Amino acid sequence: APENTTGSLKEQLAKVFEVSLKVTVPDESEVVPLIAPCSKKETGDYQCNNAMSLWSKIKGKGTEFRGPQPVGQAIMRNLPASDMIESCSVAGPGFINVKLSTQWIAKSIQKMLTDGIDTWAPKLSVKRAIVDFSSPNIAKEMHVGHLRSTIIGDTLARMLEYSKVDVLRRNHVGDWGTQFGMLIEYLFEQFPDGEVNDQDIGELEVFYKASKQRFDSDAEFKERAQQAVVSLQGGEEKYRKAWAQICDISRKGFEKVYQRLGVHLEEKGESFYNPYIPGTLDLLRKESLIEESEGAQVIFIEGKKIPLIVVKRDGGFNYASTDLAALWYRLNEEKAEWIIYVTDVGQREHFEMFFTAAKRAGWLPSDENKYPKTSHVGFGLVLGDDGKRFRTRSTEVVKLVDLLDEAKNRCKATLVDRGKAAAWTPEELDQTAEAIGYGAVKYADLKNNRLTNYTFNYDQMLNDKGNTAVYLLYAHARICSIIRKSGKDIEELKREGQLKLEKDEERKLGLHLLQFPEVVEEACTNLLPNVLCEYLYDLSEKFTSFYSECQVVGSAEETSRLLLCEATAVVMRKCFHLLGITPVYKI
Ligand code: ARG
Repeated sequence: APENTTGSLKEQLAKVFEVSLKVTVPDESEVVPLIAPCSKKETGDYQCNNAMSLWSKIKGKGTEFRGPQPVGQAIMRNLPASDMIESCSVAGPGFINVKLSTQWIAKSIQKMLTDGIDTWAPKLSVKRAIVDFSSPNIAKEMHVGHLRSTIIGDTLARMLEYSKVDVLRRNHVGDWGTQFGMLIEYLFEQFPDGEVNDQDIGELEVFYKASKQRFDSDAEFKERAQQAVVSLQGGEEKYRKAWAQICDISRKGFEKVYQRLGVHLEEKGESFYNPYIPGTLDLLRKESLIEESEGAQVIFIEGKKIPLIVVKRDGGFNYASTDLAALWYRLNEEKAEWIIYVTDVGQREHFEMFFTAAKRAGWLPSDENKYPKTSHVGFGLVLGDDGKRFRTRSTEVVKLVDLLDEAKNRCKATLVDRGKAAAWTPEELDQTAEAIGYGAVKYADLKNNRLTNYTFNYDQMLNDKGNTAVYLLYAHARICSIIRKSGKDIEELKREGQLKLEKDEERKLGLHLLQFPEVVEEACTNLLPNVLCEYLYDLSEKFTSFYSECQVVGSAEETSRLLLCEATAVVMRKCFHLLGITPVYKI
């Protein structure tokens, strides 16, 4: 139940400060506590930054305070008793530095171990979100750009789901449009009796290229293809059936990639929204948004040279009209409050334009902090070692399935080199190689700020040192092995034992663990998975410092330290889960 979440550390601290702010400045309504981690760790763990801005608000109003520092002093004095806080001090122009109670940190972690990591889920104010991601085009290649969209979109969906948001995972596949005319005609030509299966068509991309060639070189064919579009859109049975067949074959290919990646998506392709386009455009016409321009119907957007075309010169609809209808549907039928689109940055303009149109139509508030809202999650290119768009040696395009296989096979080879073929069952070997290989591909993508281009390099992503999935998965496995080797029953320790954070490294690790909820919240609100990756990498570094300073097994503090190991493993696993990576337990 969402009710039993404790809220992030930051939130809990904000609540304590809220009480004080109300007492300190009773006349200022709704002062929001400004809480942040301390920039200098020596001064404290967190700080409250309200004094300065409060001072500038109240100084003209005959206040008894003489400057921001006294305001800070008063906020500190008025803090209610709280077992969170060990001590406070005021610095500079009224910053209140807080040192958290070590005992409270330890207790909070122990509570999470008992109640489960789900009690650490951040609370978001949005109830239902749509993540529109992956979205390849039928009969065309599913390229690395779609892979990025799939990986980033899945992570965002997972983070929102963890935060108790109802998420609709939408695959907006390109399954409509004029290319179907030529595909269908070519299909009729190749299989006059209409009996086709996947094997017959083989590679749909090759089929696409062949039909395109036919289209470009034969005027008579071209005409038939154009006629086929009309027949398809008019709903003629024979054409519908051929269209469905082609979509089906593509879909099976996409599904293979999703299965390997463990990604779940619900397809609502462009064709789904087609019936909603006329009504949607009527609504926009009523708001006087649509104008005639050079034979097309367009929406002019302030600051943009080229308008958004919503009805082409030939009377057909396009990508933009489909997206407008989809947005209308998502807002009104699906009641989504936050709609997130994951595509390469190249499409930014398209999204900006139709978001603006929706605002002008009054579908979305102009204030970006209010719901319902839309966000475009753009990402950069995937580059090869040569600094150009990523391609494999043999073919023009990268087969995504091959790419994942290669990562897995390389991992398997490494494991065999380390003698695991003898030590493990073939299934264990296979599953571990898969977890590490796929995890490495995902993590290499997610760890960078998504807006930057990233270079696809197996050697780098499969390195067991540095900020890679391999390193992190090994770190997790090592913690599990420490716990196993202790011979202790961790469930019993959770019930009977007590976690204490006596050494400095223990406290640092403990505090970092407790910051997990606010990091997830930040990653969600800013739609930045790399924030979670940074956190995870930091966590394993803090664990390393702890482990090199503090003996665990056989020490006087064994129980407490095993609990700290377990808490670290639990949080790491949650991070892996949110990043779509399968953890491994032994290595
Ligand atoms: N099919 C598009 C492409 O491959 C991506 C669709 C993204 N979603 C959307 N609602 N426009 O580029």
